[in-house]
Amino acid sequence: MRCALAIGSAQDRPVVLEVRGITKRFPGVTANNKVSLRLHKGEVLALLGENGAGKSTLMNILYGLYHQDEGEILVNGTPIRASSPHESIQRGIGMVHQHFQLVPVMTVAENVMLGNEITRGGLFLDRRRVASMISAISRQYSLEVEPDALIADLPVGAQQRVEIIKALYRNADILILDEPTAVLTPQEADDLARIMRALVAQGKSIIFISHKLREVREIADRIVVLRGGCVVGEALPATSSEAHLAAMMVGREVLLRVDKDVARPGATVLEVCGLWVRDDRGLLAVAGADLKVRAGEILGVAGVQGNGQTELVAAITGMRAKEAGVVRVAGQDVSGATPRQISELGVAHIPEDRQREGLVTSYALTDNAVLELYYRAPFANGVVRDEAQINAHCVRLVQEFDVRTPSIHVPASSLSGGNQQKLIVAREFSQPIKLLIAAQPTRGIDVGSIEFIHNQIIRKRDEGVAVLVVSAELDEVLALSDRIAVMYHGQIVATVDNGELTRAQLGLLMAGAGPQAAFGGRK
Ligand SMILES: Nc1ncnc2c1ncn2[C@@H]1O[C@H](COP(=O)(O)OP(=O)(O)OP(=O)(O)O)[C@@H](O)[C@H]1O
Ligand SMILES: [Mg+2]
Repeated sequence: MRCALAIGSAQDRPVVLEVRGITKRFPGVTANNKVSLRLHKGEVLALLGENGAGKSTLMNILYGLYHQDEGEILVNGTPIRASSPHESIQRGIGMVHQHFQLVPVMTVAENVMLGNEITRGGLFLDRRRVASMISAISRQYSLEVEPDALIADLPVGAQQRVEIIKALYRNADILILDEPTAVLTPQEADDLARIMRALVAQGKSIIFISHKLREVREIADRIVVLRGGCVVGEALPATSSEAHLAAMMVGREVLLRVDKDVARPGATVLEVCGLWVRDDRGLLAVAGADLKVRAGEILGVAGVQGNGQTELVAAITGMRAKEAGVVRVAGQDVSGATPRQISELGVAHIPEDRQREGLVTSYALTDNAVLELYYRAPFANGVVRDEAQINAHCVRLVQEFDVRTPSIHVPASSLSGGNQQKLIVAREFSQPIKLLIAAQPTRGIDVGSIEFIHNQIIRKRDEGVAVLVVSAELDEVLALSDRIAVMYHGQIVATVDNGELTRAQLGLLMAGAGPQAAFGGRK
């Protein structure tokens, strides 16, 4: 049935959304350049493109957050001029942003109602009716949620389902999902794929954005590729390989694997012994973790998200208090050190949450380029900042890491998601370091830039840096690591050489099957 859809049936159906010659300019960039595309009823259309290609901009225009300079949008054949999300919702267009817009201290039902309150007798919110409507929507599209649950208690995948329900509750027929799977575990991403199929099977239409080519090929009926703000091509999943799609996006061949020599590990640089850490809710997230990373090797931490990886990294980098245990960097106990003291020992950190921890998005790129260094030579002379040095440094980073921006003086918030990530990586790599801690280093990054960043990480290793990579993508862990530590329920349940276990065996360990099951009695 999926194949039949991909080959043509969805495209024979009526066009629900048409974009005609949309152009959108920001100072110094044409983010969308005469973009035209069509979405059919019951179709999943994937938008693919490099970081900064203009995907989010186009979606934000459709959703009424930005207004186009030229071109028009037609919904069911009628031109619309949406100047606010409120109007877009009235036209049947709903959007789920990558950063959810839910109120954590409120329940699912309260969040769904927010801004769209049903009142009974003109005064009271009719919670019972809303709860029963939520239950009906969630049954119809297999969107499992509990209307009375608090948002703060829900895993990311469930929060995303609430966002989808919110859009459906407002009668959205067209759903826009901007990188919905970037923050999901593989299991949650599979669930979302099923939900998307259920939605289109019942007549909804979906545009979704993703950098994961395998997933795009699995979920989409049709793929439109953007480059430099222009539509450069269209493809059908059945007839386009990942390599072909990557080349269409980037305009050159992309190596979809990493080439590296055997590691030559030296002395231990990072040592974590008996580490216990609590999460935001006060629950134990890391429960007696031990690991070592030596100079010149990459240790990859594999695990399903939410098994303590976030807290492990936060504790190592001094951003979160430790309940117990010791962390040593190059032999020095840093258990009670601040993030700055740790960074000054030659530790670089690519944080998982780039918007909260990696950048000050309201600051210019120049300030972000020296976020932890502005007070030191050569960027400061006593207390006076040396602007020329800072600017030159920022230009170097932008050029070397291909950060797409019209200027180094614009705020980081104006960069596309992937380009924000590239700026952080560039900054963290620009200093002489002993230890690199990279959490989800390529989240939201296009395939061409992933290749580049992976090569940079390996170059650091070959220069003798100890590297700890934490990634929700098992593919990334397998591509980069010399050794792999599997984390489950706050513990490192196994540490093996890369290649020692198959992907399936690692999967078993990640799922908590225990070493016996995974090693098949070998160990
Ligand atoms: N609010 C803004 N102000 C100025 N420039 C912007 C703004 N939003 C986007 N841009 C610019 O428009 C271009 C397209 O950005 P957009 O966010 O649409 O890219 P994208 O395809 O979504 O990339 P990514 O895959 O990294 O998310 C980029 O050059 C970006 O810097
Ligand atoms: Mg984007």
